[in-house]
Amino acid sequence: MRVCVIGTGYVGLVTGVCMAEIGHNVICVDKDEQKIKMLFNGKSPIYENGLEELIKSNVTNKNLVFSTELAGAIRSQEIIFICVGTPPLPNGKPDLTALDEVSRLIGSYINGYKVIVNKSTVPIGTANRVKKIIKENLNGEGKGYSFDIVSNPEFLKEGEAVYDAFFPERIVIGSENPKAVEVMKKLYEPLIRQDFSYAVNNINRKSDIPIIITDSTSSELIKYASNAFLATKISFINEVANICERVEANVLDVTYGMGLDSRIGTKFMRAGIGWGGSCFPKDVRALAFTAEEYGASANILNSVILVNNYQRYKVIQKAMDMIGIIEDKIVAVLGIAFKPNTDDTREAPSITVINKLLELGAEVRAYDPIVKSCPKEMDPKATITKDVYEAVKNANLIVLVTEWPEFLNLDFGRIKSLMKMPNIIDGRNMLNKSKLQELGFNYKGIGI
Ligand code: UGA
Repeated sequence: MRVCVIGTGYVGLVTGVCMAEIGHNVICVDKDEQKIKMLFNGKSPIYENGLEELIKSNVTNKNLVFSTELAGAIRSQEIIFICVGTPPLPNGKPDLTALDEVSRLIGSYINGYKVIVNKSTVPIGTANRVKKIIKENLNGEGKGYSFDIVSNPEFLKEGEAVYDAFFPERIVIGSENPKAVEVMKKLYEPLIRQDFSYAVNNINRKSDIPIIITDSTSSELIKYASNAFLATKISFINEVANICERVEANVLDVTYGMGLDSRIGTKFMRAGIGWGGSCFPKDVRALAFTAEEYGASANILNSVILVNNYQRYKVIQKAMDMIGIIEDKIVAVLGIAFKPNTDDTREAPSITVINKLLELGAEVRAYDPIVKSCPKEMDPKATITKDVYEAVKNANLIVLVTEWPEFLNLDFGRIKSLMKMPNIIDGRNMLNKSKLQELGFNYKGIGI
């Protein structure tokens, strides 16, 4: 099928590559010429395991084309994915400027029956908004043509996006018109059959991927409610972890014991410094905003946000307990990305922690295996080091913020000898507490 993907961010790029790999003819459009040039040369602008190889192979076999020409792409393709960003405004409401602009352009270029798909996480009711804008902008010849809007949210995790795209746990199609639903089902047929080359012989190959057909609003809500529920699980276990600290219980044992109940499970129950990234913070706030806007309550959602904010400052309190006055102390921060296997620093807990430590007068040295420069929201007084050992030299404290697997293999004997005081806060409960204590570290985790 002929597919156009508008926007080559995380969602757009992975969607475009996935559609090309399963056999469709894909044009990915972006107005950023630099990005398109880069992609044309087979380079991915984002770090995502396996993505660059797939871009290269699909460009080579001509299933995948990158372009800045929106008009041509809309006219030649039958399915148009909208994958533009909807970043949060200061009040929590998503900014729909890019989405509105793209809808206007789609309206003015339409030249036949098109299925317009909202793939980005968009506010409840956006399908109707896009429909209205496209209708208003149909001009001249276009007035005789028809289109349908489909909500088809993505459930990709950064760092595992390629895997999630090829082996989804469900496909949600929200539309008011059965004709559009049939087009979408046909589009996803190779994915359901799992007979494309990436899946054949892959141990992760799935069978019976469910397709959920619903109305567009329910589809939009499935996405928000899923992310908000996952964030709620994490905030819940973090609250339990804080209780564990007071009553001297161990949150790892508590989680294990709870998780064996299959109704609860152990996934997204890792206590720590809390959630960040480009999705959970934005989506929980947006859902709370929608609830309040429509006169429903958002008590749980607002508490989930509060617990998460508190969790970051709890780490600062722990630092104070360990080293007293922060002023003039050296703190090494391990991990800057919001989670491992990504270079994404959006709403990363590291930013809050580092900025607060600097505000309190500490010297902060941060190390991350992939992030090699100070994110723009981070106080530039933080020094980014080339390795962990440089970061910990003469340090009074280590704060581990991101659970990069390589931190498990560090030489903690050497680290201890380099530090001024062997204090460590493990914000992800990833290190071996008793081993570190044997080495002479003063160790604090979260709820353990
Ligand atoms: C999340 C969802 O997991 C995806 O299903 C969804 O498609 C995506 O948002 C999106 O809306 O685009 P992502 O933001 O990439 O994916 O990251 P997650 O792996 O979900 O982690 C989110 C945050 O929760 C991270 O800061 C992570 O460190 C934290 N987390 C996760 C915990 O603190 N504890 C856990 O047990 C799990």
